[in-house]
Amino acid sequence: MERSLVLVKPDGVQRGLIGEVIARFERRGLRLVGAKFMQVSLDLAKAHYTEHEGKPFYDGLIAYITSAPVMAMVWEGPNAVAAIRQTVGSTRPMEAAPGTIRHDFALEVGRNLIHASDKPETGVREVALWFKPEELVDWKREVDRWVFEK
Ligand code: RTP
Ligand code: MG
Repeated sequence: MERSLVLVKPDGVQRGLIGEVIARFERRGLRLVGAKFMQVSLDLAKAHYTEHEGKPFYDGLIAYITSAPVMAMVWEGPNAVAAIRQTVGSTRPMEAAPGTIRHDFALEVGRNLIHASDKPETGVREVALWFKPEELVDWKREVDRWVFEK
């Protein structure tokens, strides 16, 4: 089953939106595989955002993600990466569709509340970066057959 890393970023945690984010993914039918509340180290922040190194917003991005605790999670489901990005909305909250998390709760790109993996391969890389195998739970829900077609 496809998996995505999801981070409720420091602004989302400070604003009390962890539960709101979890509720939206649960409601969508996605299945939680792992979760931990944590302070992000500088090393992890740099490894996570390596693709953005050298960009004008890079230093601010590293400062932002390490500024306070985050809620790190892994969610799975059919097409989980695309489904989660759809629920999250566009990177720039002013371009995010109404009803998406970034539209409904954010205004600025540097305070856009949440991270989600951008491709299935990125999901694999990011889940391995943030979670040890033993921190992930393989499980089934009674309701799975009513959410997942196969
Ligand atoms: P994310 O990685 O956080 O899920 O967001 P994303 O894929 O939608 O956006 P990405 O291009 O990967 O950018 C990562 C994060 O960097 C910040 N950013 N700031 N000031 C800017 O122009 C700018 N561009 C990106 C945002 O916090 C974005 O989520
Ligand atoms: Mg990204």
